[in-house]
Amino acid sequence: MSAGSALPGRKKDFSPTAVFTAGLGTATFRGNFLPAKYAKGRETKRFFFRVLSRISRVIFSLLMAIRKITEYPADVLGQVGKPVTEFDNSLAELCADMFDTMYDAEGVGLAAPQIGLNLRLFVMDCHDVKLIAANPEIIATEGEQSGQEGCLSVGKVPAVVVRPMKARLRAQDVKGEWFEREAEGYAARAFLHETDHCDGKLFIDRLPKLRRDMVVKRFKKEKSWK
Ligand code: NI
Repeated sequence: MSAGSALPGRKKDFSPTAVFTAGLGTATFRGNFLPAKYAKGRETKRFFFRVLSRISRVIFSLLMAIRKITEYPADVLGQVGKPVTEFDNSLAELCADMFDTMYDAEGVGLAAPQIGLNLRLFVMDCHDVKLIAANPEIIATEGEQSGQEGCLSVGKVPAVVVRPMKARLRAQDVKGEWFEREAEGYAARAFLHETDHCDGKLFIDRLPKLRRDMVVKRFKKEKSWK
């Protein structure tokens, strides 16, 4: 029951004092006492706010280069990526687009096949590990962890995947310099997940058939709602 309905017969009392006093109550209470002309003003404000936020979103997406995310079962997601050979400005721009796309989708990692490019390249920003990895390879692993994992190309539907606890990555940066980086826990999981993408492997390929089918089924169902 809203506060307004507890006071029958007062709905037409629209003196400013009544409105103000009523306004000290809950939002619903004030809503019930607000005369039509004030309500109209509020609606107009809401309308302009909606228009402004839409315009700012459009400007934001124009400034950021957000690419379309490729989704399962696109062929490119199952192909072994080609090595990155050119370390020029266009690679730097591509990586910037990949970061924008990843942040926009609220992901922690994004590989080139996920934007339709058959390339061995990924970006990530996860648990203080922010990097660009071209031609990545996992050169050492240690231990084991079991945890939830999802993928932007499979609608973020989560599933438990067993992975090594630690992983050592070897890759080239945006200028072509080779580097090695070790990570643990969730960041190690990202190293492994994204390197898998470059090898044409999705996290669902690491699941038992029954669970893989469940993830795919849920992903397709959620997609059909959109
Ligand atoms: Ni993924």
